[in-house]
Amino acid sequence: MNRLLIAGNWKMNLGPTEAKKLAATLAKRWPSGSFTNQVVVSPPALSVAAVVQELAATDIDVSVQNVHTEDSGAYTGEISTPMVKDAGCRYAIIGHSERREYFGEDDVLVAQKTKKVIADGLTAILCVGEKLEQRKAGQQESVVKKQLDAVLDHLSEDDASHLVVAYEPVWAIGTGETASPQQAQEMHKFIRNVLKQSWSESAGSKVQILYGGSMKPANAEELLSQEDVDGGLIGGASLKADSFSELIEIAESLTTDG
Ligand code: PGA
Repeated sequence: MNRLLIAGNWKMNLGPTEAKKLAATLAKRWPSGSFTNQVVVSPPALSVAAVVQELAATDIDVSVQNVHTEDSGAYTGEISTPMVKDAGCRYAIIGHSERREYFGEDDVLVAQKTKKVIADGLTAILCVGEKLEQRKAGQQESVVKKQLDAVLDHLSEDDASHLVVAYEPVWAIGTGETASPQQAQEMHKFIRNVLKQSWSESAGSKVQILYGGSMKPANAEELLSQEDVDGGLIGGASLKADSFSELIEIAESLTTDG
């Protein structure tokens, strides 16, 4: 079993002052050496510095929610991977459905960004997932395969340790509706097989596959217990220290029991 990864996606919430407060509470609750799994938080870019500083004495890693494909230049409003590394982040979320839907990111751009993130030594949390109409039409596997193949074509097996895949059915994001543990497991297994077929059995096995979409303390245990679910990408429930900490505790209880 892979180590579980509990990743909080704060989206466009918590400016530097509020982000610092939440990070300080988490730092107190989770000092260095207090968990065996992996924990990541992804604040808005403007809050990253404050959060990195607050979490310096912990094992919680920091992520950004997006990057540009170039290192620097005339790209108003963007941030680059060298800046992200300089700021102390180790992860970047790429291709979140909100980026795809509201900011026109297509598979080609998502692939370029993922490649750039990994080439520069960060870990990409690559988001994939189908929309409600696609699920209703039974197209979830073909949609997710297309999203994955677009990226995997530009990566090699050696990149496996710097890739995390987040399966986030769009119909479950921020809706309170969660994929059932069976639906999640089915899709995670499918994703795992795509990775194994593109690369190898061992490379496919070691990629962490996170579930995202209304994960919260009440449903996390069942979801995280599924064989191919290696963690969660959590929006709403990551904005409060209590609920996020509960998710970390649930992950801990599962790894110690198992
Ligand atoms: P949610 O968001 O937990 O609020 O559904 C998850 C995500 O979009 O990453």
